[in-house]
Amino acid sequence: MADKKILLSGVKPTGRPHIGNYFGAMKRFVEMQGSYESYVFIADSHALTSLQNKQELKSNTLGVLLDYMAIGLNPQKVTLYKQSDVPQVTELTWIFNCLTTVPYLMRAHAYKDAVANGKEPTVGLFDYPLLMAADILIQGADVVPVGQDQKQHVEIARDTAQKFNNVFGGTFKLPESIILESVATVPGTDGRKMSKSYGNTIPIFATDEEIEKAVMSIVTDSSSGIPENVYAIHTLLREKGDLDKLYAEKKGQYKELKEALIEDLKKFIGPMREKRQALEKDKGVVLEVLKAGGQVARERAEKKMEEVREKIGLKIS
Ligand code: ADP
Ligand code: TRP
Repeated sequence: MADKKILLSGVKPTGRPHIGNYFGAMKRFVEMQGSYESYVFIADSHALTSLQNKQELKSNTLGVLLDYMAIGLNPQKVTLYKQSDVPQVTELTWIFNCLTTVPYLMRAHAYKDAVANGKEPTVGLFDYPLLMAADILIQGADVVPVGQDQKQHVEIARDTAQKFNNVFGGTFKLPESIILESVATVPGTDGRKMSKSYGNTIPIFATDEEIEKAVMSIVTDSSSGIPENVYAIHTLLREKGDLDKLYAEKKGQYKELKEALIEDLKKFIGPMREKRQALEKDKGVVLEVLKAGGQVARERAEKKMEEVREKIGLKIS
């Protein structure tokens, strides 16, 4: 039997994951876990670019692990780990730093956005794409399921692999992003991209009250009889034909349509929330998963780094 291809992806522990993260990326990790050799991690080192609070980082990190397990990632099938348990990733980032020019990285969207918003970017934010390239390349990923906003970062990882291979000889595979068009950018309650940083999210593990509050706050425009922002979120949960029928029947009845969305969200979120609550009680088991996954990921990374150190002349023997 041919070896399975390698899947790798991660989520930053910067707050509560939302249905944009779920439908845009995390759901795919679950669907693909059996068909790929999978590595899914918590990007805690990346989170340091925006989160500098010890307690919050620790509890968010554990939180993302619980989220992964509650949505159905099975530690028997997927290596689950946290990025900082693989220090070889930061070692490789330095090597990539020395192969990459400043003007090239200045074209990255996240950096350009930060500058456009009047922020003074840290060196860490500037270097963010190369840390991500190291995550991906050190594990030899073939595919990287992400939302649209991460597409450029995966392209930077490909470029970086090519650059390294040209200078030092074939070492890294060229990864590809997997982006589902229909959910590439899930809109938030205000119609902009759903994002932790915009305060427009519906958390995947929201309580019933939070679901009600979030849906009632969805901004609607009254011209067409169809509340576009409500409909856009609703498409995540129902077949199009079924949904169009509902929106035709209840044309102009925004309150009823929002109530229908609330019911569907409750049905979808409820069981996952219960599973998460059960896992939360078993912290020992969860920590064990993290420890075992970290060891697997670190050993693989160390093997790759041995090759890299040898190729670039850092190893004297
Ligand atoms: P956020 O932008 O909310 O801080 P992250 O950066 O942690 O989220 O993203 C984790 C994953 O979720 C990435 O693959 C990202 O592309 C995806 N993602 C984030 N927001 C959305 C969205 N609104 N629609 C689709 N995918 C998204
Ligand atoms: N930058 C990604 C995000 O903001 C998280 C991430 C870090 C990642 N390293 C990765 C995603 C490697 C995929 C592969 O969502």
